[in-house]
Amino acid sequence: MGNILFYYLSAMPATLITNIKQLVNVRTESPVLRGKQLAELPCIENAYLLIEDDTIAGYGAMSELTAGGKDVIFPLSMQSKDDILDAEGCLVLPAWCDSHSHLVFAASRENEFIDKINGLSYAEIAARGGGILHSARRLQQTSEDELFRLGWARLQEVSRMGTGAIEIKSGYGLTVEAELKMLRVIKKLKEKSPVSIKATFLGAHTYPPEYKDNHSGYIDLITEQMLPAIAAEKLADYIDVFCETGFFSPEETMAICRAGMRYGLKPKIHANQLNCSGGVQAGVALGAVSVDHLETMDDGAIRALAGSDTIGTLLPTAAFFLRMPFQPARALVDAGCAIALATDFNPGSSPSGNMNLVVAMSCIQMKLLPEEAINAATLNGAHAMELGRELGSITVGKKANLIVTKPVPSLAYLPYSFGSNLIDRVMIRGEWI
Ligand code: NIG
Ligand code: FE
Repeated sequence: MGNILFYYLSAMPATLITNIKQLVNVRTESPVLRGKQLAELPCIENAYLLIEDDTIAGYGAMSELTAGGKDVIFPLSMQSKDDILDAEGCLVLPAWCDSHSHLVFAASRENEFIDKINGLSYAEIAARGGGILHSARRLQQTSEDELFRLGWARLQEVSRMGTGAIEIKSGYGLTVEAELKMLRVIKKLKEKSPVSIKATFLGAHTYPPEYKDNHSGYIDLITEQMLPAIAAEKLADYIDVFCETGFFSPEETMAICRAGMRYGLKPKIHANQLNCSGGVQAGVALGAVSVDHLETMDDGAIRALAGSDTIGTLLPTAAFFLRMPFQPARALVDAGCAIALATDFNPGSSPSGNMNLVVAMSCIQMKLLPEEAINAATLNGAHAMELGRELGSITVGKKANLIVTKPVPSLAYLPYSFGSNLIDRVMIRGEWI
């Protein structure tokens, strides 16, 4: 490449990435993508990318840098050669936007994993007091500091795997005190981590044992005690309900979400995971930001989602781990839905926060094209956290959250070569992590 002239004075730190084999998901406009739009993944071959401070400042073809021997102007602050990365043979993508996780939890549940190998179902384990209730007992006994330490370690792990934004839910507290504790941990993660974090209140994850036969009593606790306390401390961005047979009905889901909406919390709900029980239609009627899971979908649910602005968030590693049919991604995209991909990172149904695996699995098992999967895991994931204006694509002015791959033959090689670690480095808000 030709000389790069460090020209104008800038107080801001800057990084230049050169010789990028393919700069992926480059957009001037970045709306939610639906249907056929998902297969369009704009890329620049043999590209450069300029980052100033924590922001994407410019990009283009390498030929523009070197054209006619003309030097290109870059910030004076970028004087050390350490600030220039030669990415020959590598791809640069927006970092993953994981819009559904339960990353704060007290303990793993591999005993139930063995129970499942021995033949019990997820619902049977839950009915015996295992599952979410097991996680709730452990969380209630764990201090806020310890939960923070555990959550921080998981956040570090997933960010090294390329996640630059993540939504984290409560829902393993199930008492006023323990739900507040979980949400305070999420708030502290938000304050301390460069990763963009959204917090979701999921008090309606299951009924605690003391309310087993008094569902309306627990719903009152959520709406009359938990929500006002959460709002007073500004602990949540969204409200979620596990809308499922044996958990919360569509009517209960609507009532709880409406109560949350009165405190400014928009719904993002667990719908149609184990049963096709009206969760998607409830979410659409509420104007939910997203309805998530969608393992069990009928034509009515697909049509309802396709005709709405609600994003359908697919969690293939949860289907995989519970040995359930995968989400009907092809039917959803072909019907014109907007879909996102997320990990559901949690100890019961998806003990992995690896978005690379989610992307691979969605191509291998759900027949998404690599382009569709990458759009769903970046830009649409950002929109499913209402972060589409600042994250999810290579756009001037967006935050510099980036994945630089190792040298790879092509974009399709990423999901094809599932299980390989193909990430060379990750940048979050302009800093290599
Ligand atoms: O998204 N389905 C409900 N909630 C989680 C699982 C929670 C758990 O088993 O701990 C999920 O799969
Ligand atoms: Fe979940």
